[in-house]
Amino acid sequence: MKKILSAMLAVATAGVLAACGSGPAPGNAPGGGGGAGGQITMGFSQVGAESGWRTANTTSIQDAAKAADINLKFSDANGKQENQISAIRSFIQQRVNVIAFSPVVRTGWDAVLLEAKNANIPVILTDRAVDTQEKDVYKTFLGADFVQEGQWAGEWVVKEFANATGPVNIVQLEGTTGSDPALERSTGFSKAIAANPNLKVIASQTGDFTRAGGKQVMEAFLKANPKIDLVFAQNDDMGLGAIEAIEAAGKKPGQDIKIVAIDATHDGMQALADGKMNFIVECNPLLGPQLMDLAKKVVAGEPVPARVVTPDQTFDQQQAAAILPERKY
Ligand code: AHR
Repeated sequence: MKKILSAMLAVATAGVLAACGSGPAPGNAPGGGGGAGGQITMGFSQVGAESGWRTANTTSIQDAAKAADINLKFSDANGKQENQISAIRSFIQQRVNVIAFSPVVRTGWDAVLLEAKNANIPVILTDRAVDTQEKDVYKTFLGADFVQEGQWAGEWVVKEFANATGPVNIVQLEGTTGSDPALERSTGFSKAIAANPNLKVIASQTGDFTRAGGKQVMEAFLKANPKIDLVFAQNDDMGLGAIEAIEAAGKKPGQDIKIVAIDATHDGMQALADGKMNFIVECNPLLGPQLMDLAKKVVAGEPVPARVVTPDQTFDQQQAAAILPERKY
């Protein structure tokens, strides 16, 4: 009897060890269908809740996971890279089927990406890219073309000031330092405005993609620079903060100082329709459904494109007023 009991215990222990061991996450072999009962578990590390865009993005991911019957483990990093790294390590320990994340900044991911690769857990980048020398540490990158967004913003400025005979003073509210959108939108914008030597960026500083940050930096810009013709806000929230600072300084946003922003969230589009902004380039936050489709393919071992670019459009004041009633975010 003793012998039978210890044999049964050995079989049970082996089963538990296999479930917790360091082998491939369940369902991550080619053709695998996810964890228990075939349901896929996704660990998602979000940047934070810094902007209207981010809130819409989070809702999209949570809703899409439910609709796709994906078990989502969601973690908010509160804008800190170290929190994202801890979250990803915890997802690896929990042996999720797939990890997705929107990186706060572009560098510093090699070690944790290698850990996921060694644990055979596929990674999907959403919204923002990383810089890495390591090979095959993520399966695909889903998100907008940020250089293009900055370029469209700059091209509008070039047209708007085509007849300027003297210097046009531009101030730039940058996104989070070191983040993919801040770097790439700056690149696209400066490339476009180089077409007209009258266009000068006289000051550029980070507002960290927040409304409060945009307001604070704009207040400082207004104090230091008697003549500002245009604000390029790298997201709507910083543009909305700039509006508050401009109005507090007794000037009219959209008229005395023009504003171009990126995102096209509901609040930004409202300000544009109200004439307080002049032009917005869209950055679509509704990435959830595409992310879930890619996750299913990746977990099943099916091929996916290395880069999936989400399409964007641009809006002037009339277009914003027309589209606002049906705007989803
Ligand atoms: O990465 C996308 C950017 O991040 C959005 O433009 C901004 O609003 C957000 O915080």
